[in-house]
Amino acid sequence: MLSPFVPTKQLNVKEMGKNNYQGALQKPVGSGFNAASSTSEVIKGIDLTGKFAIATGGNTGIGLETTKTLAAAGATVVVPARDIEKAKRNLEGIAHVELAAMDLMDLNSIDAFAENFLASGRPLHLLINNASML
Ligand SMILES: NC(=O)c1ccc[n+]([C@@H]2O[C@H](COP(=O)([O-])OP(=O)(O)OC[C@H]3O[C@@H](n4cnc5c(N)ncnc54)[C@H](OP(=O)(O)O)[C@@H]3O)[C@@H](O)[C@H]2O)c1
Repeated sequence: MLSPFVPTKQLNVKEMGKNNYQGALQKPVGSGFNAASSTSEVIKGIDLTGKFAIATGGNTGIGLETTKTLAAAGATVVVPARDIEKAKRNLEGIAHVELAAMDLMDLNSIDAFAENFLASGRPLHLLINNASML
């Protein structure tokens, strides 16, 4: 059976054995942004009005910045969180944000979150898989 995954670039066999320490094997993607770029620079000129996003871990750290940025650009951002009270405090005052319960370590809670979102009948335009589980 053919795999649905079609690589856009052949894997460089020589590079496979090399060490990627400090991103040595990474190559710029030509986005025009770099490590010093701010979220406001990246989102500039983009109108997300009417768009729906889900941002896991969207109430802390990088995820919180993502939530703020997408919401400020007009998107409705659904933030699943395992600690709803903490998430409420962290997201207080940010418009266009909705909280929902989800623990990524609990498959039933993931299913319940997904079913609720699907039942809302809304499309999903942006899925930010930001939450880390270490
Ligand atoms: N910060 C960096 O320098 C850096 C560098 C490279 C990559 N990253 C990656 O970028 C992402 C965000 O980093 P960060 O520094 O902003 O992380 P962070 O502040 O630690 O936030 C992680 C988020 O993930 C959530 N989370 C963890 N386990 C979860 C679970 N089982 N169910 C639901 N949510 C869960 C946390 O929820 P709780 O608040 O409930 O714990 C928190 O909201 C991570 O994937 C990280 O690996 C970060």
